[in-house]
Amino acid sequence: MVNGISEVNVYDRLLQRCPVTKLHDGLKSADSEKLRDRLVTILEVNPYYVKQVIRVIIDNNYHNDIEWFYEKYVDLLQYSSMDSKKMDIIRYIFNGEVYVDINERPNLISAMSTTGFRTWEAASYLCDYISNVDTESLNGCSTVLELGAGTGLCSLTLLKGKFQDDLKKVYVTDGDTELISGQLLSNFKLNEMEHEIGQKVKLQRLLWGEDSIPNDIDCVIGADVTYDDTLFDDLFKCLRQCFEIESCKMCLIASTIRNVETDRKFLEHCHDSDFKVEIIQSTELDPQSKARVEQTILNKPLIAPIMIYKIYKEI
Ligand SMILES: C[S@@+](CC[C@H](N)C(=O)[O-])C[C@H]1O[C@@H](n2cnc3c(N)ncnc32)[C@H](O)[C@@H]1O
Repeated sequence: MVNGISEVNVYDRLLQRCPVTKLHDGLKSADSEKLRDRLVTILEVNPYYVKQVIRVIIDNNYHNDIEWFYEKYVDLLQYSSMDSKKMDIIRYIFNGEVYVDINERPNLISAMSTTGFRTWEAASYLCDYISNVDTESLNGCSTVLELGAGTGLCSLTLLKGKFQDDLKKVYVTDGDTELISGQLLSNFKLNEMEHEIGQKVKLQRLLWGEDSIPNDIDCVIGADVTYDDTLFDDLFKCLRQCFEIESCKMCLIASTIRNVETDRKFLEHCHDSDFKVEIIQSTELDPQSKARVEQTILNKPLIAPIMIYKIYKEI
């Protein structure tokens, strides 16, 4: 731990696809054999990244067995850039103990009318919150509905983290059916959660305002589902339906504030729906949480502030 932030070793940083410029110290002091093994594993999914790492090792003469690195580098010469449509597997680590691997296209903004092919910063921030918060704060959250799940990072973090024994059921939903049967399902397999599908885990389509809400939920979560105000009418119709379920106590929404006007409209919709809203954590009010996400999860600065809103209905 440094300043309350857990450290990530170089082997995990490689799986996080940490930029090579930040890896010099780690690469220099790494065990050669372990490093080579890790690079061979990554080679299968991201040869361009391995090429960049090996370049640093060769240029700085960081390891004695330089021949192995030279040979590999020559094999990799053909890879001149990262194809944004190509799948990669990124490791997310929360609180130094929850490991989630995600099959995604990390450089793809949007394709086939969905933004769900990659994991967004707000999802990492929500997962960091879930992994660090005291158990009281999520007390009573045992049947969870995730809206706009995309790659599934938040539900997987819940299922692998400290609340796993309290969870009865997790509905992992998105409006895009292809995403659900493709990437989302593959991420549950990748994290060895396949056996939970159909049991504790339900992967299903939930198009906001159109599809029905499971009638046993007590908590709703969503990350980066407030990026487009044209979706708010449907999103809020869905949230109002959620709160019609008697057991539903609260909803946690992690929002990246790219545009203050969109955020203002979001809060206005909350007000119009008679929802109470609290900011329970934000990168602006809690710099330590920002540092944790930037330094131990994403290895880069956040593009914009992130808020986690708790929404509920006063009884
Ligand atoms: C920006 S992505 C966020 C994905 C994921 N939560 C994350 O933060 O990495 C927004 C997600 O919401 C889903 N979505 C957008 N409009 C929707 C709608 N009307 N109903 C259900 N899901 C929707 C998209 O398919 C996409 O997966």
